[in-house]
Amino acid sequence: MSEPGPSTRVVRAGLPAPEQGEPFLPGPVFAAPYHLSGDPYAAPASYTRYGNPTWGRYEEAVGGLEDAEATLFSSGMAAAAALLLTNLTPGTVLTMDSGCYHGVRAFTESHLEPRGVEVRLAAPAGLEEAAQGADLLWLESPSNPELEVYDLAALAGLGVTTVVDNTTAGALLQRPLDLGATYALTSATKQMSGHADLMLGYVTTRDPHRAQSLRDWRRTAGAIPGPFEVWLAHRSLPTLALRLERGCDNALAIARLLAARDDVRGVRYPGLPGDPGHEVARRQMSGYGMVVSFDLGSAERAERFLEAAQLVTDATSFGSVHTVAERRARWGGDAVPEGFIRLSAGCEDTADLLADVEQALDASAS
Ligand SMILES: Cc1ncc(COP(=O)(O)O)c(C=O)c1O
Repeated sequence: MSEPGPSTRVVRAGLPAPEQGEPFLPGPVFAAPYHLSGDPYAAPASYTRYGNPTWGRYEEAVGGLEDAEATLFSSGMAAAAALLLTNLTPGTVLTMDSGCYHGVRAFTESHLEPRGVEVRLAAPAGLEEAAQGADLLWLESPSNPELEVYDLAALAGLGVTTVVDNTTAGALLQRPLDLGATYALTSATKQMSGHADLMLGYVTTRDPHRAQSLRDWRRTAGAIPGPFEVWLAHRSLPTLALRLERGCDNALAIARLLAARDDVRGVRYPGLPGDPGHEVARRQMSGYGMVVSFDLGSAERAERFLEAAQLVTDATSFGSVHTVAERRARWGGDAVPEGFIRLSAGCEDTADLLADVEQALDASAS
């Protein structure tokens, strides 16, 4: 059989071999300790902080999508903290793109700089120079919320241990490890689980020593996910390709509508042919994601837009089946204009969404 397509890959990912009378996806294993006599390390399970069969199945599933080993954590931020703290010690240097997720930047300010790690933040044009002599290079592409696109193969080719935060794309749209990254980080809170109902994160790598070091970190730091969340995420995985197909189609349709209007500025979507990131995105992504950003010129107009929209829920996060949007500057932390909106297209019917976005834009203009 030729290489299976994305839907085929996710539908059975991580399922055990069929057994007469057994379910497709076994239920979550709820246990702290397991029955255990003798050598605890020889047992298949001993204590859930050390490992859990429900995690194991999901790790096999999402690791398999990237031909790598996956290590699960309780959230994307727990995964980011594990990556940073297993790679950086006092006196080492971290180079980051300055537009990466504000939570990761806040972590470096609160927990790395005070412990003697040098953090170099660089805009896209300065990243290559800032990476000289660094111990870790942290990239996010497309970045949240500004949707900058980085040439991952070129930057990972600089020879520095490289992390790509792949959250806005996810494993089906972009494969950072194939482009030379050492690690890929995913907040599975977003489209990987896709229903706005759980928090989860994971790291993939093809280096077994690095994977082991992350698992050791998780065991000792205790940043472990609950089995039910992991089971829910696994339960949602078979529809990932379908959800992405609709979400990406809707995002492109909305981006086109926005770009055609005179009263909307700064529309960013890597799938728009005129977008500054489009050419690189076309080379390194197989789809352009569910997130669109744009500027309505003022906080007041952005708030009026969010209030007038019926199918676009004012909420943070992205990647779920529901279309959501928010005025990003309400949080602080990102260098975006007051009227900047990040919108995540969901799985509603395209015509309904377009009609709603259009009426909300018209209503907010007055
Ligand atoms: C790009 C990116 N990385 C990491 C995270 C952190 O993930 P979590 O909220 O699951 O901790 C987020 C959350 O929004 C994100 O957008």
